[in-house]
Amino acid sequence: MTTNAELQARRTAAVPRGIGHATQIYAKRAKNAEIWDEEGKRYVDFAAGIAVVNTGHQHPRIVEAVKKQLEDFSHVCFQVTPHENYVALAERLNGLAPVAGPAKTMLASTGAEAVENAVKVARCFTGRPGIISFSGGFHGRTHMGMALTGKAVPYKKGFGPFPADIYNVAFPNLYHGTSTAESLKALKALFKYQADPSTIAGIIIEPVQGEGGFNIAPTEFLIALRALCDEHGIVLIADEIQTGFARTGKLFALEHSGVKADVVTLAKGLAGGFPLSAIVGRADIMDASGPGGLGGTYAGNPIACAAAHTVLDIIEDENLTARANTIGEIILGRCRELAARSNLNCIGDVRGLGAMCAAEFVKDRTNGEPSPELTGEVLKAANARGLILLSCGTYGNVIRFLPPLTASDEIVKEGMDIFEASLTEAVGRLQ
Ligand SMILES: Cc1ncc(COP(=O)(O)O)c(C=O)c1O
Repeated sequence: MTTNAELQARRTAAVPRGIGHATQIYAKRAKNAEIWDEEGKRYVDFAAGIAVVNTGHQHPRIVEAVKKQLEDFSHVCFQVTPHENYVALAERLNGLAPVAGPAKTMLASTGAEAVENAVKVARCFTGRPGIISFSGGFHGRTHMGMALTGKAVPYKKGFGPFPADIYNVAFPNLYHGTSTAESLKALKALFKYQADPSTIAGIIIEPVQGEGGFNIAPTEFLIALRALCDEHGIVLIADEIQTGFARTGKLFALEHSGVKADVVTLAKGLAGGFPLSAIVGRADIMDASGPGGLGGTYAGNPIACAAAHTVLDIIEDENLTARANTIGEIILGRCRELAARSNLNCIGDVRGLGAMCAAEFVKDRTNGEPSPELTGEVLKAANARGLILLSCGTYGNVIRFLPPLTASDEIVKEGMDIFEASLTEAVGRLQ
């Protein structure tokens, strides 16, 4: 048997340290909401490969669809001999995504690539250079993704210079002291002091910030952004890469607000674990670029497209939007119960939309000082007890709960039992 420790030693020697790890658990096998490591130990999976396998590990229908496509062909390149399953997926996404007007879709491979292309089409359509993003936002690890990302360490430090004409504004986050009115004021100040709105091509926002700490954009803010974009001819880009595909209790998080974007970026849950991303946007914006300006060798890989069609079928057939809400109620209910305990005033905030749920840890609720130390201890204790959890947040003090939406109530409750025991253990250890 190969041990996790042996593999970690090999990994340290062979792979750069810049790739971080949430755990040192080496996966051998996974099924729905469970993972088994190389040592044969079982884990409840509350990470879902960072909100990717919303349909569970190895969903039999996805495995079947992928096998079938593999028998036909695995790669021909859409730019050489196009294939039907790309076109059909574009047609489906055009009908589903919250886009203001008739839509067109291009496919790519990663989330960062989707963001890059959203910026490309916004600039090409408007003929303007500027892009506005928000503090705490995360948009990927390419140069444009880093420039847009609103967290310096570890994502940006040492990697500059970044592309020009990117502006960052405070995200409305009342828990951390910024109201919607203050964010809007900051945007208007930016228009006055730094860049006239006529030079801004796009505003990119996550309807619920993922890496930033599961901060939910207030509906009135999204409505105000829509109005500002309409007033100044700016392209509103919704980055739904982490929020997409039933995670928040609707197919897309923007649907909770009723606001429509001009361009939506999708990845992660789109293809249930196969590398696929999509840029869905208003047809006039998506058509701004001339032929050859968009694309990529692997973009819209046929196997990933086959998986994505099946993901959409499963979401509908298994009613996964409703499951997201049920799972979210279990998780948030349990977190709120724990937060009410007098010995657990380290839980500063509990929040969530559907099954995109988080708890924020502080030294003491009265001062609200972030506690990344406690967060780290909880994660370690959870791993030892058989639960895979992820942290996030600007201060690294948020635990996010992301089980597959196909997880049973029993397994979600089992995960929450392990979380409670891990939290109690971690609090005791730090006292
Ligand atoms: C909101 C958001 N945008 C973009 C990305 C980048 O996606 P990828 O890692 O597939 O490049 C992520 C990844 O976590 C994300 O959460």
